[in-house]
Amino acid sequence: MSQKKRSWAEPYKIKTVELLKMTTREERVRALAEAGNNTFLIKSEDVYIDLLTDSGTNAMSDVQWAGMMIGDEAYAGSKNFYNLEEMVQKYYGYKYLVPTHQGRGAENIISQILIKKGDYVPGNMYFTTTRLHQELAGGSFVDVIIDEAHDSTHPHPFKGNVDLNKLDALVKKVGAEKIPYITIGVTVNMAGGQPVSMENLRQVRKYCQQHKIRVVLDATRAIENAYFIKLRENGYTDKTIPEILREMCSYSDAATMSGKKDLLVNIGGFLALNEWDVFEEARNLVVVYEGLHTYGGLAGRDMEAMARGIEEAVQYDHIKARIGQVEYVGQRLIELGVPIVQPVGGHAVFLDAKKFLPHLKQDQFPAQTLAAELYLESGIRAMERGIVSAGRNKETGDHYYPKLELVRLTFPRRVYTQAHCDVLVESIESLYARRNEIKGFKMTYEPKYLRFFQARFEQLK
Ligand code: F0G
Repeated sequence: MSQKKRSWAEPYKIKTVELLKMTTREERVRALAEAGNNTFLIKSEDVYIDLLTDSGTNAMSDVQWAGMMIGDEAYAGSKNFYNLEEMVQKYYGYKYLVPTHQGRGAENIISQILIKKGDYVPGNMYFTTTRLHQELAGGSFVDVIIDEAHDSTHPHPFKGNVDLNKLDALVKKVGAEKIPYITIGVTVNMAGGQPVSMENLRQVRKYCQQHKIRVVLDATRAIENAYFIKLRENGYTDKTIPEILREMCSYSDAATMSGKKDLLVNIGGFLALNEWDVFEEARNLVVVYEGLHTYGGLAGRDMEAMARGIEEAVQYDHIKARIGQVEYVGQRLIELGVPIVQPVGGHAVFLDAKKFLPHLKQDQFPAQTLAAELYLESGIRAMERGIVSAGRNKETGDHYYPKLELVRLTFPRRVYTQAHCDVLVESIESLYARRNEIKGFKMTYEPKYLRFFQARFEQLK
C-alpha cells in the first residue's frame, strides 16, 4: 500500500506574540536610503519579515523563560554555569567548558592560545569572525573545502566536506608544525548551510592525528549537521540526534560555539575543550576578554536558558520542523525556477545573485543589490553573502572575488509561520519577474574590519 507523504507542522503553539509593522513602499525607499542600501543598517522596526540572520533571533520556549527566573547572578560559581557545563558534557561530550558572551569570544580565545605568528589555519570555507580572529592572532586562513562547495548547483549531499588532498597539499607546503589546528564548520554557513559527513570527520581526524594537528569544530550549527547525517548518510538512519552529535564531536579536540543559533537563545556561546592545558590557558584568558571563567560575559540567566536550549535543540521533532521550514521555501523557489544554492542547506535559503542578476558584474555588488531590492519589494530583510562579506586580500588590497555571490534568507528558529514563508516566496517571485530592470551598486563607504556590517552603497545610474 502506498503511503501518502504527510506534511510536518510546527511542533509548538504560540503563547506570546510580537506585532509586526507593515510599511508602504515609500517608507521603505526612505528607510533604505537612510541605511545606505545596506540591510544591516535598516532599523528593525522598519522590517516586516526579518531574515537577516538566525543568530540570536530565535524564540525561546516557556521552559527557557522559566529558567531565566532562576538565574543565579553570583559573580563566581553560579549554579547555572554548572547546569550548562553538565549539558555540554552530556550532549557534546567535551570535558571542559569556558562560557563566552557569544561565538566570536570563543574564537578569539582559541586563536590567541593556539596560533603563532606565521602559522596557517585550514578550514572548510571561512566564516567572517573566525577568519578575522585567526588573522589577528598572526595566522593565515587556508580554504580546504571540497570544490563542489563553490558550485551553487552541485547536488553533493555533504558539500561542507574537507578535501583531504587540499589539506595534505598545505601540510606538504608549509609543514604540519606551522598548522596548529584545522577549523571545521558543521554546517558551513558561507557555503549555504551545507553539512559535513561523519565519514569525512573521521578521515580528517585520522589524518590530523597522524600529523599532530588539532581539530576544532565550529559547532554553532552542529545539531543541524547531525540531522543531515541522519537523513543522508548510510548507517545513521536509526541513530538519535544526540548519538550522532556525540560522535561528531568525538572526532575533535575542542569546539567553539555560538549558542545564538542551534541553542535557541538570544545571546551566549562557549569554548568546549578536552585538553587540560589548553583549558587552563583558556580559563585564564577568558577573564581578560569576557569575564570570570564561570560566567564569561553572560548573566546566570543566559547560561540557564542556553543549558535548557541544548535539551530542546536535540529533539528530533524540533530539528525536523526547523530544517523542514527552510526546505519548504527552497523547494517552492526551485519550482518557480529561481536560482538558489542546492541542495537547500540547514538554516537558510541562499539566492544565487550571479544567476539572478547576470547583467551585473561582481564589483557592482549583485547580492547587495538583490538584498536591497527584496526589502523594497516587501519589507523582507536578507543578508549579502558575497563580495562585500568576503572583504579584501590583505596582501594585494583588492576585493576577494568569491565564486558564490549569495543573498541569504536566514530563518530564525520557531519565529515565523508557513504563511510568512508563502509571502516570502511570492515576493521573490515578483522580484524575479522584474530582474532585468535592476541596477547595481557602487560602494561609497568602506569600514576597515568586517566591512559588510557598516558599508554604504549608491545605486548606479
Ligand atoms: N561561526 C559561525 C558558523 C557563525 O555562523 C557565526 C555567526 C559565528 C561563528 C560567530 O558567532 O555571532 O555568536 O559571535 N554567525 C551569524 C550569522 C552572525 O548571521 O551567520 P557569534
